[in-house]
Amino acid sequence: MCGIIGYIGSRNAIPVLINGLKRLEYRGYDSAGISFLKDDKIGVRRCAGKIKELEIFIRKEKLKSNIGLGHTRWATHGKPSEENAHPHRAGGIVVVHNGIIENYIELKEGLKKKGHVFTSETDTEVICHLILSYSKKGHGLEQATKEALKLVKGAYAIGVINEAEPDKILAVKKDSPLVIGLGDGEYFIASDMPAFLKYTRDAMILENGEMATLTHKGVSVSDIYSNRPVKKKVMKITWSPAMAEKGGYKHFMLKEIYEQPRAIADTIRGRFSLEKGEVNLKEFSLKQSDLKKLKKVFLVACGTSWHAALVGKYMIEDMARVPCEVDIASEFRYRRPLIPGNCLMIVLTQSGETADTLAAQKEAKRLGARVLTICNVVGSTSSREADGVFYTHSGPEIGVASTKAFTTQLTALYILSVALAKAKGQLRAAEITALFNELLQLPEKVEKALKCDDSILKIAKKFYRVRDFLYLGRGINFPIALEGALKLKEISYIHAEGYPAGEMKHGPIALIDNDMPVLALAPDDRVLEKILSNMEEVKSRGGKLIAVATEGNTRVHAHTSHMLFMPETNYYLSPVIFSIPLHLLAYHMAVLRKCNVDQPRNLAKSVTVE
Ligand code: G6P
Repeated sequence: MCGIIGYIGSRNAIPVLINGLKRLEYRGYDSAGISFLKDDKIGVRRCAGKIKELEIFIRKEKLKSNIGLGHTRWATHGKPSEENAHPHRAGGIVVVHNGIIENYIELKEGLKKKGHVFTSETDTEVICHLILSYSKKGHGLEQATKEALKLVKGAYAIGVINEAEPDKILAVKKDSPLVIGLGDGEYFIASDMPAFLKYTRDAMILENGEMATLTHKGVSVSDIYSNRPVKKKVMKITWSPAMAEKGGYKHFMLKEIYEQPRAIADTIRGRFSLEKGEVNLKEFSLKQSDLKKLKKVFLVACGTSWHAALVGKYMIEDMARVPCEVDIASEFRYRRPLIPGNCLMIVLTQSGETADTLAAQKEAKRLGARVLTICNVVGSTSSREADGVFYTHSGPEIGVASTKAFTTQLTALYILSVALAKAKGQLRAAEITALFNELLQLPEKVEKALKCDDSILKIAKKFYRVRDFLYLGRGINFPIALEGALKLKEISYIHAEGYPAGEMKHGPIALIDNDMPVLALAPDDRVLEKILSNMEEVKSRGGKLIAVATEGNTRVHAHTSHMLFMPETNYYLSPVIFSIPLHLLAYHMAVLRKCNVDQPRNLAKSVTVE
């Protein structure tokens, strides 16, 4: 997830681009850059770091131009650095890009053979070279870009300028957002509206496969597949800039909860081939033969990432039949763990900077384990120090309480478990296909799960004044009970506990009285019968029962009227779906209690000290 902006008009484009990038910084902030046309020559200025640093870097030059592109980066391919920062350039073609090009390695190899020289590690650079190669064949910018995009697989929102056609910006989108701002004789492209709200409130949203051509005279849109012109509706933006930054949501946490279908789709993107039944672990240096020899897996993390690790144990042991040990990083680093040969440590960390997790990772390496990190931040310490990385690509997470980073970690663990099970010969080809097919439906099912928001708000209104809350789960959804409880205490300051439902009789049952809400996770799985009896135990002691069940399950409904129904999925993916209502419940309870949802007291997004 990066932010792009483009401007053509009579103002000086440079401050417009810098202001726009500042408004888009929430989309990524590891490096930034601009390009502009001056005296019909392209100029590019880029640097690692935040927009502020770019601003300081260019200040002395007093640059002026009426056209330009800007980019704030959240690295996906290649570490944050000046070379990897956008805009990228090949000959007279300059491109800014938000998205992921899945087949860039093949495209890059092909272009290199034809003599193209690459200067970055990014996937984006292939787009410039492809456009350049088609313009050298005599195509104008529009046609060259269309031809280039025919070869590209993946998601993109791009802005393009050509030195040879100096009065034009092209913008094309597929599966990454792009909006066009329409001012008075001036036009903008941007990943999101806040980038140009200061200048205009009239906008058009580009749809997949649409290309916009911006000139000083106006904007025209066409369909890149049919070449037909498209008539677009102009909308008036009524959001304030602060609201627009959050996509119209009241808090970043809510925005990030709603981003999950997109985030999960990005985690999955390019990770496996359904036809070949193969998993593509691009950044992972372990070979199939190494995976085959694996004797043990350690899963280590902190906070919400530790809950993902707990789910990972259920997935890996069940699918691949490899023993797993799960540790909280601060425990692992001091407990003198026994690390056998042929052992893999999987570290889970959204930020890649959590002090205890990094220390545990170091310790495991010292003791001879191979380390794979499931991480969201490209170029973070964990990703640099690990032997292999599985990037979740969920985009920057700003809300302190982790949501989309968690469900994308679960998605990554699912893909890894299938890879491991395949290497170990534990799954047949048909089973792998079925698991991948279910995974492909996950973004849509998460979208459906989000529809329970109104019912959750009703439940939150009933319970937000309580002092305590109990969450029960079993099997692979026991860690989701822990996660639900953690979310609630983190942001609403209600005391909450997550428990394996089978343990209830060994303690928590003593807490149940008429004031105690108990949320039970009851998906249609192998332990449904067991959780139904636990629910009965709560009910008979006067506890206020809320149940989350699989769509259409009338048996669970018979136990309580506070019901939330989730779309049906397989056992391994049910934790992703069942996390959604719990994140929403914690969110609504916190808002009703007037808590600072995005920055809860005493908590930090990234705990970089012990
Ligand atoms: C902090 C955050 C949590 C996060 C945990 C681990 O406590 O508030 O949301 O789960 O750190 O962070 P990591 O970046 O390593 O996943």
